[in-house]
Amino acid sequence: MFEIKEISAFETIIVRHPVLRFGKPIESCQFEGDDLPTTTHFGLFFEGHIAAVISVFKAKNILFLEENQFQVRGMAVLEQHQKKGFGKALLKYCEKQITNKTGEIIWFNSRETAIGFYEKAAYQKIGDSFDIADIGIHYVLFKKV
Ligand SMILES: CC(C)(COP(=O)(O)OP(=O)(O)OC[C@H]1O[C@@H](n2cnc3c(N)ncnc32)[C@H](O)[C@@H]1OP(=O)(O)O)[C@@H](O)C(=O)NCCC(=O)NCCS
Repeated sequence: MFEIKEISAFETIIVRHPVLRFGKPIESCQFEGDDLPTTTHFGLFFEGHIAAVISVFKAKNILFLEENQFQVRGMAVLEQHQKKGFGKALLKYCEKQITNKTGEIIWFNSRETAIGFYEKAAYQKIGDSFDIADIGIHYVLFKKV
């Protein structure tokens, strides 16, 4: 049905742009650290085309004491493929990759509208909400793995 594999930072733009940065310049889809050797990007392919993407960064958040922390960024599923379980499958795959790297904790900034999705995957909110300019209200969510 679908296949998940590692992709380049460039390929993430196919999904990041329409889903996360709609109407914004392409450059806004490039995240700092995208090309670091410690960063990995994964794509879920459905019928041979990328339908969803996620990126994993080796990044520490001072909210957590764990040494081996990973940040998830750019989780996005093309609109026509949302609510089919693709996001859940990609997040799970990514968690496995982090576990393989002996990661202790996964954290990220979640859009307010996606919190329910992450809570279903056992992530917890920590701290107050904050605004990311031009994108909206976010919360930090985390899970110990
Ligand atoms: C949020 C997003 C990644 C979820 O991916 P998805 O493939 O649509 O979600 P799934 O089909 O895998 O859903 C898994 C479960 O979460 C639930 N869910 C999905 N999106 C949800 C949401 N926004 N709020 C609450 N629950 C949600 C589903 O109903 C499903 O529940 P179930 O297991 O009880 O059936 C996707 O909809 C998306 O890209 N949204 C726009 C961009 C975005 O907000 N990205 C996150 C940035 S932090």
